[in-house]
Amino acid sequence: MSVTVKEITQKSLPPLVEQLMNDILEKNPLHKKIVSVSLEKMTQEEIDNLETYIKFNMKKGLTVDYLSESYLMFVFDTMKEQLYFQKHKKYRFSTLAEVADSVYHDPDYMSKYVYGIAVSCFIWPHHLGMLRYFNETVPTQKKGTYLEIGPGHGLFFMSALANTGFDHFVGLDISETSLGQTKEIVDFFLPDKGSKYSLQLKDFLDADQLESNSYDAVVTGEVIEHVEEPELFLRRIAEIAKPDAYIYLTTCCNAAVIDHIYLFRTPKEVEDMMDECGLKVVKPFYLPYEGKSVEECLEKDLPMSLAYVLQKKS
Ligand SMILES: C[S@@+](CC[C@H](N)C(=O)[O-])C[C@H]1O[C@@H](n2cnc3c(N)ncnc32)[C@H](O)[C@@H]1O
Repeated sequence: MSVTVKEITQKSLPPLVEQLMNDILEKNPLHKKIVSVSLEKMTQEEIDNLETYIKFNMKKGLTVDYLSESYLMFVFDTMKEQLYFQKHKKYRFSTLAEVADSVYHDPDYMSKYVYGIAVSCFIWPHHLGMLRYFNETVPTQKKGTYLEIGPGHGLFFMSALANTGFDHFVGLDISETSLGQTKEIVDFFLPDKGSKYSLQLKDFLDADQLESNSYDAVVTGEVIEHVEEPELFLRRIAEIAKPDAYIYLTTCCNAAVIDHIYLFRTPKEVEDMMDECGLKVVKPFYLPYEGKSVEECLEKDLPMSLAYVLQKKS
């Protein structure tokens, strides 16, 4: 008999969160430590947000079983890639062609993958940390156009729509599945905002109608490690952002995931590249692998998430 969530936390959990955690523990008892640490670090408000997110998915016809399965698929595939990385010191794939069909263009896989990432944004301390950092730094009074590249599950995009005063919000993604999830979450929670946003199925690098110096915010979470030439991506961000734009970017180093194709080994590599591409770091935030320090992560090539508020260089 597997452990239940009540045995590993003192917190009182709303029913669907309890069910999701019990499902995760039953399917993967080795997840006990992660569930326990995650619940410890989540605020009551964040736990309630997860309850609301599960409820929303159930209204769409999904089940708690599907969400736990999606999350554990993401966990399992990530662990497999991390073992590959530790052994070979490189990511398994390095071109978009190698991952496009099996990930982005496989609707069943992509759907579970994006729901898996969404659940991780509620419960993994480093993913939750990046969402918190975004909510803390995104300007609430700024006007103009907000652009998000690769909104995926839509949690950042929805938060921007709900909490900021930009006039228009644009999301670009190469995956129809991701755009579908973003649209569903926004339309469900913010039904009055339909006229304020548009979503487009596009590769950011091919979206040549984006005008230079025209975006007041450019947000891209966990995308540049998914492209073959992040330099092109960063240069393009610097080109389209207005001089005073809010620019928020997250990425990672030594963090293998099935479709991570560009390996950054240190934060310095990321920061040097940003600098060369016309972006200045205003505020960096390093989120080391749970329980480790930044130094240990660097010494042992352990995964680390990196979040940045950036400014276009003059
Ligand atoms: C790992 S998810 C990140 C989701 C979310 N932004 C976050 O921070 O959790 C990456 C998303 O970027 C999209 N993506 C990858 N390459 C892209 C590109 N070149 N242009 C636009 N979207 C891209 C993927 O389809 C996916 O939805």
